[in-house]
Amino acid sequence: MIIKPVIKGVVARSAHPLGCQEAIQRQIAYCQSSSPIAAGPKRALILGASSGFGLASRISLAFGGPRTETLGVSFERGPSDKGVGSAGWYNNIYFRQAAEAAGLKATNLVGDAFSQELRQQVVEQIKSEFGGKINLVIYSLASGVRPNPETGEFWRSAIKPVGQSVHGATIDIEHGKMLETTLPPASDLEIHDTVKVMGGEDWAQWMQFLADEGVLAEGCKTIAYSYIGPEFTHPIYHQGTLGMAKQDLHRKADAIHQQLQAINGGAYVAVCKALVTKASVFIPGLSPYLLALFRVMKEKGLHEGCIEHMQRLLSSKLYPPSGKVVTDAEREIRADDWELQEDVQQEVARLMAQITPENFKQLGDYEGYRNDFMQLNGFGFDNVDYQQDISLDFLYSLKP
Ligand code: NAI
Repeated sequence: MIIKPVIKGVVARSAHPLGCQEAIQRQIAYCQSSSPIAAGPKRALILGASSGFGLASRISLAFGGPRTETLGVSFERGPSDKGVGSAGWYNNIYFRQAAEAAGLKATNLVGDAFSQELRQQVVEQIKSEFGGKINLVIYSLASGVRPNPETGEFWRSAIKPVGQSVHGATIDIEHGKMLETTLPPASDLEIHDTVKVMGGEDWAQWMQFLADEGVLAEGCKTIAYSYIGPEFTHPIYHQGTLGMAKQDLHRKADAIHQQLQAINGGAYVAVCKALVTKASVFIPGLSPYLLALFRVMKEKGLHEGCIEHMQRLLSSKLYPPSGKVVTDAEREIRADDWELQEDVQQEVARLMAQITPENFKQLGDYEGYRNDFMQLNGFGFDNVDYQQDISLDFLYSLKP
């Protein structure tokens, strides 16, 4: 069959396996040619390893210096009679193949990271295949739902402002349109549930479980990713439901940090740059900002994609040559320093004031935004032959 892109709104319903392989190879090549992570971890667990920041972190750790052995957890779909499967499914496969070809251990566990069963599987893997202890846990899950183990029902996140309505716009990638909307304020229940799904409770539970099982090595670090952004995005993000969840994540980092003192470890939140990922294109109201930001950062030679961003974060902030984690006064790792530079934000604000549904493709970096989205799903690489026939049997033969 010939695999074509199928996009519904801001969601990709197909993925190209060979394009995903190309994306992995390009990210590996970038890490191999960039400033290496000096003293990285020997073994890492990555929760949310199949796409976006988690995948980029995994590639950096394996190929950007420390040759870290990685155990990756993700929730992805393989091929079936319903379709070819998700991009993350193929990212897992081609990452593992590349790691193994380089003589590096890499294992994928595909399942629900919120479930006890999967936690148990992770511990068994660490004990049997990863020398019994890990040195780093990356918490990079982005999900819209989390099961409530007590009721069997789901907490569902709602990405909304808090206490006020907010006018914003979303880019519909399927139709290439900018759609203006007004987002109503979240209810108390929506705020509560978003914090449950995207806050730090599950991260803290993971760390407690891993500590109880004795699989955290002396000096083990853990890191989760957050976003703050400039002031004019605060009503939709930082002061909205997602921001509430992130504030919870920051609080939990402090509690986990205290616990890890017993093994001379540490828990950190890295505040990152806004980038195109499966999760971020879904945030209503944020995409016009991304169009303006990408345009300005590219013009200034400051733009990074996920892989550049994670390689810089890991090599210069979490594992700098000095060995001391680089944080601000609030103990946060600020990888958003380039995004928040005053000259960048002044220029972004100027553009944002001019962007309309009629001119967003010219004023903002729509081309770059769309291209990133397509490439996340394995499409739009000039050296991949998209006309070649791919058999379902071949896809079934690929295992995570
Ligand atoms: P993504 O959608 O690219 O990746 C999410 C990962 O979580 C995937 O590997 C997916 O398989 C996994 N996942 C989701 N539900 C799961 C489940 N139930 N069980 C196991 N795995 C599951 O998202 P992205 O953007 O990389 O987000 C990762 C973190 O980075 C999030 O906390 C996000 O808020 C944060 N972040 C993202 C920014 C961005 O601009 N993309 C900016 C700053 C922070």
